[in-house]
Amino acid sequence: MIKRYLLLAGVFATIHNSLCVYKVTVIGSGYVGLVLGTGLAEFGNIVTCVDLDTEKIQALNNGIIPIFEPQLPEIIAKNVKEKRLFFSAAIDESIKTADAIFIAVGTPTKPDGTADISAVELVVERISKHINKPTLICTKSTVPIGTNHAIEIFFKNRGMADLAIIVSNPEFLREGSAVHDFFNPDRIVIGTNSSLGSDMMRQLFAPLFEKQTPVLITDPTTAETIKYASNAFLAVKLSYVNEIDRLCQAVGANTHEVTYGMGLDPRIGKYYLKPGPGFGGSCLPKDTRALLQTATENGIKLSMVSAALEANNDQRAWIIHKIKSHLGNTLQNKKIGIWGLAFKANTDDIRESAALYVIKELLANGAQIKAYDPAAMQNFKKEFPTLCYCSNKKEATESIDLLIILTDWDEFKEVHNDQFHLSMEKIKILDTRNILFK
Ligand code: UDX
Repeated sequence: MIKRYLLLAGVFATIHNSLCVYKVTVIGSGYVGLVLGTGLAEFGNIVTCVDLDTEKIQALNNGIIPIFEPQLPEIIAKNVKEKRLFFSAAIDESIKTADAIFIAVGTPTKPDGTADISAVELVVERISKHINKPTLICTKSTVPIGTNHAIEIFFKNRGMADLAIIVSNPEFLREGSAVHDFFNPDRIVIGTNSSLGSDMMRQLFAPLFEKQTPVLITDPTTAETIKYASNAFLAVKLSYVNEIDRLCQAVGANTHEVTYGMGLDPRIGKYYLKPGPGFGGSCLPKDTRALLQTATENGIKLSMVSAALEANNDQRAWIIHKIKSHLGNTLQNKKIGIWGLAFKANTDDIRESAALYVIKELLANGAQIKAYDPAAMQNFKKEFPTLCYCSNKKEATESIDLLIILTDWDEFKEVHNDQFHLSMEKIKILDTRNILFK
């Protein structure tokens, strides 16, 4: 096993300043895969992003980016033009020609809470059929602890240990700021038992190593655990602050000032202290559930992590309770405007968004909804095709009994600049993100 060490990347830059151009294949062209592939191309590598979804690949080849992610279309266009970034559905061919393969397929939650890694397994199987030279195989997908070790064993059992250089390199980017996060990570975690693996990672991500990004080189199992432990910690922090917000409202304390005051203590820090309608998205809820399952399988009770999920459900229920109390305890035939359907601002992603839960409850209780979101309405229509969707935020405030703000988009925060803001003063508002009239 290679030695664990934390270093500042610049130390390496002086040793490894040779410019290597690698042929990279990224399997899975979703949020993680597209941002990763584009970033690696921007670093000078020749990258092919592949996907089973031929329509998605066709769209990308026609310059249509399937996700809303600030700055991504521009960098994709630049790298496509400069012939460093390609999109293809020919997975096997791309595997054969690659020096480095990144696995960035989805690992959704199964009904029992565990992560479904069947897509990762299929990709690994496929890679094993087509690699014919030593190739870096790097897992970007969030996989249950022990998966990379199992991948290593898989190749060893096939007599391919020398061909498959296994690396776990968890991704910490956040949707909505994924491009910024890619080029400015807080840390790089490389989990590998191969020194060739860590050397190749240094060269692939050379510009990040040159700018003193903290790098932790460790074994794959530790790297996987860092990812889960980080996301579960964020979940704990958010559930904690949501509970404190409820307390603040009950005792008449100012939540903004309470969280600001807490965040001034560097041991606590100012991030992830904004109360909201409960955390959502494709990672925090899913990864927290998966970590709990892994712990249970290993006979470990994670009371804090389990409480974070329970508190998140409580927070959602609390929002419904507040909506009812604003409307005289009945929702029947009440007209409700919704600002924000995405799970957070700057994304069109609605996975596990508060709006999914809240709107389902409101409709079940007989309310009528007018919804608006700057980017997520197309995705929401797939779940709720018959909802009344508005073409702007003002329309969603007309003839309603209550306006609920569920996502912290800038355009909602800046409502005081809008001509109609005076008419807003007559509307009852439930601002679950605390963004208005600070
Ligand atoms: C998260 C992790 O932050 C990232 O490191 C990992 O790679 C993927 O999972 P993401 O799901 O994109 O990223 O969203 P994030 O910005 O972390 O927000 C998660 C949820 O917490 C959202 O619903 C957001 O609205 C909520 N949140 C976040 C708050 O309610 N308050 C905050 O202060 C921060």
